[in-house]
Amino acid sequence: MDREILLEVPGDGASCRIRVGSLDPLPWEGPLCVVVDRRVARWHRERLPSGPTLEVRGGESLKTVRNLEKVWSFLKEVGADRGTLVLGVGGGTVTDLVGFATATWHRGIPCAFIATTLLGQVDAAVGGKNGLDWGGAKNQVGTIRQPRFVVCDPGFLSSLSPEDYRGGLAEVVKTALLDGAAFFERLEDWQGLLRHRDPEVLAEVVHRCAAFKALVVQADPQEADRRRILNLGHTLGHAWEVVLGRSHGEAVAAGIVAACDLSVHLGLLDPSWRDRVESLLRGFGLPTRLSASTEALLSVLVQDKKRRRGEIHWVLLAGPGRPLVQPVPLSEVPALRL
Ligand code: GLY
Repeated sequence: MDREILLEVPGDGASCRIRVGSLDPLPWEGPLCVVVDRRVARWHRERLPSGPTLEVRGGESLKTVRNLEKVWSFLKEVGADRGTLVLGVGGGTVTDLVGFATATWHRGIPCAFIATTLLGQVDAAVGGKNGLDWGGAKNQVGTIRQPRFVVCDPGFLSSLSPEDYRGGLAEVVKTALLDGAAFFERLEDWQGLLRHRDPEVLAEVVHRCAAFKALVVQADPQEADRRRILNLGHTLGHAWEVVLGRSHGEAVAAGIVAACDLSVHLGLLDPSWRDRVESLLRGFGLPTRLSASTEALLSVLVQDKKRRRGEIHWVLLAGPGRPLVQPVPLSEVPALRL
């Protein structure tokens, strides 16, 4: 059964319908064109809406100015204007690129997403953030602008590679920790079913994550304050991703444990919660401890967007459902004291 979540941005009238369920019927009747990850096109071509289509190679290397120009050229070629919907179909890198290209083409034309990865469905496609990597740093250029709709069809998840699937589970654990103990405990109970990609459990998990994120984004669409909690595990996670070349999900998994370690170190979190988090992530086959030279990590951390007035603000936990964001001197961070 399809379920819908309405994300309404107060003030600017933008709203986004998030459907957890099937693609049909697509909530759009006007002209559309499609930008799709070519692996998704290969596996699911018969399920894609028809229209002029650009195939791209998903993955972090997609998020460049060169590929942005390829999308702009495609939009020019198909005559896309403010009445045309551009549908991004793929994981977070495709939705990031399409979101940014459509935010800037003709000063903004409509976009919508069919999120085909677990990471996209539970996080990246929801909330309107888009971006490109530039100057050696991730997501350095981007906007926050809501897509018209996002479809999260768990049917796409069966063809994900084990690595991509595991990566999405790291964001699921993050969301459960932010939401509260009840969701976290359900994940512990559902560990085996999630490992086997049980469709019903996945639909429930995607719905809970998307609904939680929609509420957070609605309260703080521009990430002035509350939305920052969604960066739990991403401070060191991003640094490990860049320095060690680990996948986003693997790096975030270790980043969540590092955030728990720091919270324990500061006397905020009971160590038993850190141990449960680590054991759940391990159960999903994710790494929980990574290390790299402090110097290399610092060179990435200084470019971090979570810095304010030169200080890095860390997302810490006082327990599940009790996140807090505060500056912590780098000398206090256990993972940096090698
Ligand atoms: N991925 C974090 C956010 O959308 O704010």
